Parts: sequence; structure tokens; C-alpha cells
Amino acid sequence: MRNRIIETSVNIYTFDELNSSQQQLIRKAKEQVIKAYAPYSDFHVGAAVELENGEIFAGSNQENSAYPSGLCAERVAMFFANAQFPDIPVKAIAIVAFTNGSFLEEPITPCGSCRQVLLETEIRFEKDITILLYGTKEIFQIKNVRQLLPLCFEKISLNK
Ligand code: THU
Repeated sequence: MRNRIIETSVNIYTFDELNSSQQQLIRKAKEQVIKAYAPYSDFHVGAAVELENGEIFAGSNQENSAYPSGLCAERVAMFFANAQFPDIPVKAIAIVAFTNGSFLEEPITPCGSCRQVLLETEIRFEKDITILLYGTKEIFQIKNVRQLLPLCFEKISLNK
């Protein structure tokens, strides 16, 4: 038997320590939470995607009475961005969550399906996507999606 340790690196910032474009992206994500449609979970998520050309696309979670038919904020924002600009790489995504009257203290961490979708975009454009996970206490900055999804499934396994 062998054992391999797989490490992930996260930089932890306060809001004031971030640069102005990252602060702006978080602000855009925060603006989205009031637009979430989350009557079942009351968990309101906002995501903002910044493209290399400076465009920002934002989205929120959209729930459904048939639960699996709903979609997370990250995928709403990312699919929206990729659908508008299929040739422009994504530079960064900011994610925030609001529930019980306030933003989460701890950084919101995306679900597995969203990580897989973010990974596809990173691989598609061969360009790292910076991930900003917002919490009121601290913000996690992760340098690319691979750090967020180690041991990922990718197209190389399909021989494509
Ligand atoms: N949700 C997101 O939109 N993003 C996440 O990163 C985690 C979860 C949504 C899905 C569902 O509408 C609600 O939050 C509760 O899971």
C-alpha cells in the first residue's frame, strides 16, 4: 500500500486586502442575492463571472419544486457568460451566500457539480480561473479550479 497526500492551497484575505477589481466582483455577486429564487431552501446565492475582456456576468440560484430541476448561482452565471462570449476566457468568479438575514460568516464553498462546470470552462479556454469565496469574516482566494477539484474527471479520460 502507498499513500499520497494531495494538497490544496487557499489564500485567505479580508475584503480590504483584495484588489479593486476583486472587490468589485464580490460587490456584483452580493447584489445578486436579492434576485435569487430560493423559496425552498431560503439560501440565496450570488455569483459574478469576470471575463478577460472586462465583461461581468452575474447570476443567482434558481430553485424548482422538482428540486433537481433548479440550478446553482455559479452555473447560472457561468453558462450565461459562456453563452454570450463563447470565445472569451473567464478570468475570475466570486461567490457569496445570504441566509437568515445575513451573508455567511464563513466562505461559501461550491457544490461538486458546479466545480465540474467551472473546471470545464478552465480547460476549454486553457486559462486559470481565480475563485473568490466570500465570507464576512474572511475570503478564500483559490488560484484555479484544479485546486478546488483535485482528482477531477476530465476529457483526457474520454480520449478526446
Ligand atoms: N447553491 C448555490 O447556488 N451555490 C452553492 O455553491 C451551494 C448551493 C444553492 C442550491 C440551492 O438552491 C440552495 O443553494 C441550497 O442548496
